[in-house]
Amino acid sequence: FPRTWVPIASIYELDPNRPTPQLFLNQQYVCYQDQPSGQWIIMDDICPHRLAPLSEGRINRNTETKISSIISTSLQCSYHGWEYDGLNNGKCIGIPQISEQEKTALLSSTSNSNRACVKSYSTIVHKNILWFWPWKVDSLSILGQHKKYPEGMMESISINAIPSTYTRDLPYGWDTLVENLIDPAHIPFAHHNLQGKRKDAIPIYMSIPESFSDTTVESFYFEWSDRTRGKHRGGTGEFNAPYGVSYNAHYYDTKEEMLEKREKDDAGFKLGALCIPTKPGWSRAIIMAGPKEMKEKEMKKKKEKRKSLFGILFSIIPVWAIHLLSNKFLDSDLSFLHYQEQERLRHIQDGRYDGGSNGYYMPAQSDRCISALRKWIPKYTNYLGDGSPSNNKYELPNTIPRKELFDRYVQHTSHCRHCQKGLKQIQTKIIPRLYGVMTISILASGFNLFRGYKLVTKLIALLSFGLIRLITAKIEPAFKDGEFKHYEN
Ligand code: FES
Ligand SMILES: [Fe+2]
Repeated sequence: FPRTWVPIASIYELDPNRPTPQLFLNQQYVCYQDQPSGQWIIMDDICPHRLAPLSEGRINRNTETKISSIISTSLQCSYHGWEYDGLNNGKCIGIPQISEQEKTALLSSTSNSNRACVKSYSTIVHKNILWFWPWKVDSLSILGQHKKYPEGMMESISINAIPSTYTRDLPYGWDTLVENLIDPAHIPFAHHNLQGKRKDAIPIYMSIPESFSDTTVESFYFEWSDRTRGKHRGGTGEFNAPYGVSYNAHYYDTKEEMLEKREKDDAGFKLGALCIPTKPGWSRAIIMAGPKEMKEKEMKKKKEKRKSLFGILFSIIPVWAIHLLSNKFLDSDLSFLHYQEQERLRHIQDGRYDGGSNGYYMPAQSDRCISALRKWIPKYTNYLGDGSPSNNKYELPNTIPRKELFDRYVQHTSHCRHCQKGLKQIQTKIIPRLYGVMTISILASGFNLFRGYKLVTKLIALLSFGLIRLITAKIEPAFKDGEFKHYEN
């Protein structure tokens, strides 16, 4: 895989106070935030003692006295309590089974100290994304190659400096994820009623992606136009290899306006996503949203304008509610992408591969980017072997049962602090309180304090009952399981 900085997670969603497991190219890492430095730490997720995962451990925030501020942080393995300092190259700083004196003597030898150390990696936070350098070669080896740094890979993602994000682990590989993101033709069908409508479908214009030369692995760029929700949309898209995909486009009332580029909309259509290969048959998508990056002058102007009602409403919607909608959006093409990938890999495995198209038949312009991507992958990565049937390195990941395919808890909620908090609030505060209100109003309806009193108490009881039903039947399960039936949509 290209030696660049690697995006691994979004700090907008990570809980800084717990060790979180992360996957990249089938290797497991653990991450957490050091205090007081604020530095994000990524280390191997293996305790050197007896190989337990450190992501099952806990974070110790050390203070001098109970009320003084944090002076250091360590990650403690929960099996036998060994402690590691991520800020200090994963150095072992605590072995409860031996005395302090013995420990100092033991770790004074370099070989012992190295043996007890957890491997740690350099990290950077850029636009709320946590990046790390997992490669054996030195990170200085890419000095001067702008596109291999987070700033370069996210250059065309023109949303603001601190975007809100939505991260989802998906049951299909990195190549299928990138392929799907550079394919605007699926929007009216796969996301009918969510992003577009079936009747929006028209022949899509797509320029042939700018060809990548032999010396660059950086990106390819294309122009495209389509129609969505009755409006024409046109602009540019970019694959910032190997992780970033971005779109920058505008909406137009008519095709003529679009051809003359007479845009009226301020914000337009912007999409920024990072695609991460996690393990065979799985990938991670980090979708970024937020206002576009603005020059200081534009920002001032915007501040002067009064916030619209929609803007105010949007700002009070909890993040978990937005994430539930995003879950639904990704559910809608999840199952067929999983099965499609399995079929493609079977084609390759049993030799039906026809040297470039992966068994695809793509006569329309709208698939030009897919062809380009399928040429790009074997040229610059060994992600799927070298592409020839005689040198077959493809491994078919297992088909996943349908219920597991849509496991939102594993794929999103378990690693999103907003959804964890939302779910906890619903379970421990909102539902018990509603039960309380319902019980009190039922009991209170036995009295008759003033005219209409009974009716009011009964209405409150009924309303609480309705809300409890809605939350327990619809909202709470939506954090855990998804499903999408296109025949019903
Ligand atoms: S395995 Fe981690 S302390 Fe023993
Ligand atoms: Fe979430």
